[in-house]
Amino acid sequence: MVVGVLGAGTMGAGIAQVAAQNGSEVVLVDLNKEMLTKAETNLDKVLARLVEKDSISEDEKINIQGRITYSTDIHDFKACKIVIEAIVEKLEVKHSVFANLEAIVSQDCILASNTSSLSIASIGSVLKNPTRVIGIHFFNPAPLMPLVEVIPAVQTSDATLNFSKELISNWKKVGVICKDTPGFIVNRVARPFYGEALRIYEEGIADFETIDWAMTSIGGFKMGPFTLMDYIGNDINYAVTESVFEAFYYDPRFKPSFTQKRHKEAGFYGRKSGRGYYNYAEGAEIIAPNQDSNLGYSIFERILVMLINEAIDAVFMNVASIEDIDLAMTKGVNYPKGLLKWADEIGLDMVLSKLEVLFTEYGEDRYRPNPLLRRMVKEGKSFF
Ligand SMILES: NC(=O)c1ccc[n+]([C@@H]2O[C@H](COP(=O)([O-])OP(=O)(O)OC[C@H]3O[C@@H](n4cnc5c(N)ncnc54)[C@H](O)[C@@H]3O)[C@@H](O)[C@H]2O)c1
Repeated sequence: MVVGVLGAGTMGAGIAQVAAQNGSEVVLVDLNKEMLTKAETNLDKVLARLVEKDSISEDEKINIQGRITYSTDIHDFKACKIVIEAIVEKLEVKHSVFANLEAIVSQDCILASNTSSLSIASIGSVLKNPTRVIGIHFFNPAPLMPLVEVIPAVQTSDATLNFSKELISNWKKVGVICKDTPGFIVNRVARPFYGEALRIYEEGIADFETIDWAMTSIGGFKMGPFTLMDYIGNDINYAVTESVFEAFYYDPRFKPSFTQKRHKEAGFYGRKSGRGYYNYAEGAEIIAPNQDSNLGYSIFERILVMLINEAIDAVFMNVASIEDIDLAMTKGVNYPKGLLKWADEIGLDMVLSKLEVLFTEYGEDRYRPNPLLRRMVKEGKSFF
């Protein structure tokens, strides 16, 4: 089977590698020849490292490389069974590209988008046969991150969905199905990890170092929110927050933060610019966190209950199943536990009472406990 990948940037090159490593023939197309050359050279390096580590043989390396054809011409997608688009995140560009693709590919070729934030229904609206559109959202770096969100739009046929699910499982990825809603699962449920951490900082409760320490040492997260935002880039992370906020009709739960906006405006993007919340220059001063355990626990619990409330809202609004929401957060962003399982462990009544304290103190809608949480506590239920 031939798989098309459009866009040879960070995501497209990674998706092409995943497909080729799992036996699919791949046509990788980019308008920019340099990006194709870069993708080819990078893949050679990555595979050479895998050979060194004995993860693959030299023959396998040659076979994987032989399965990818690099091209600047989308007409080379003619024989593809599916094309996964991973180009710039602009709706108008995706619209024109999808209409062009449909004129080239076969009647039954599936047209998928790797978009992080755009509506799949809107992307599919330009197609003559919109039942073939679907979202297939990989995480960065695609060859390493096990999670893939599969997003059927309102127009998507069962055949398109079933084919996509099977493909993702043949590529040995963990597929979760989610509704075509802003941020899908991960980028919606994870918002408070950043937003509540920023809010705690803005209120002067603790500095970046202390909040990161609380979330890693007490919470067991691999990275603290500020280290992670610096890693993702404050420009990118702020843009996602703003787009989710707008897409949810300005629901105060998703309100962006001035602190992050100012960091972005100042060019303090994080690691890539040498400075974000932290200074990455050689010899820069390292500030020790305040390791007061009461303070640490209160920070961790406040962020955790906000995350749990968001995960519960995703269940409440039927964005995905309980199992898939927990899988998404552990396999897509490496959370130490699924948030719903975590909620069961703490006790839903405890989660509710902590949210109620915040809601009463602040009087802000941001802290309103989800109706499903209230209902489950009343009925003495748990998620698992
Ligand atoms: N970077 C991430 O962490 C990440 C994660 C998940 C999803 N995504 C999504 O994946 C998509 C691609 O993101 P990326 O980070 O790989 O971008 P990127 O900028 O690294 O790569 C985009 C590539 O598309 C090419 N391109 C642009 N317009 C084109 C066209 N009309 N035809 C052919 N090629 C074209 C560019 O030359 C470039 O090589 C976006 O929709 C993004 O939202 C990104």
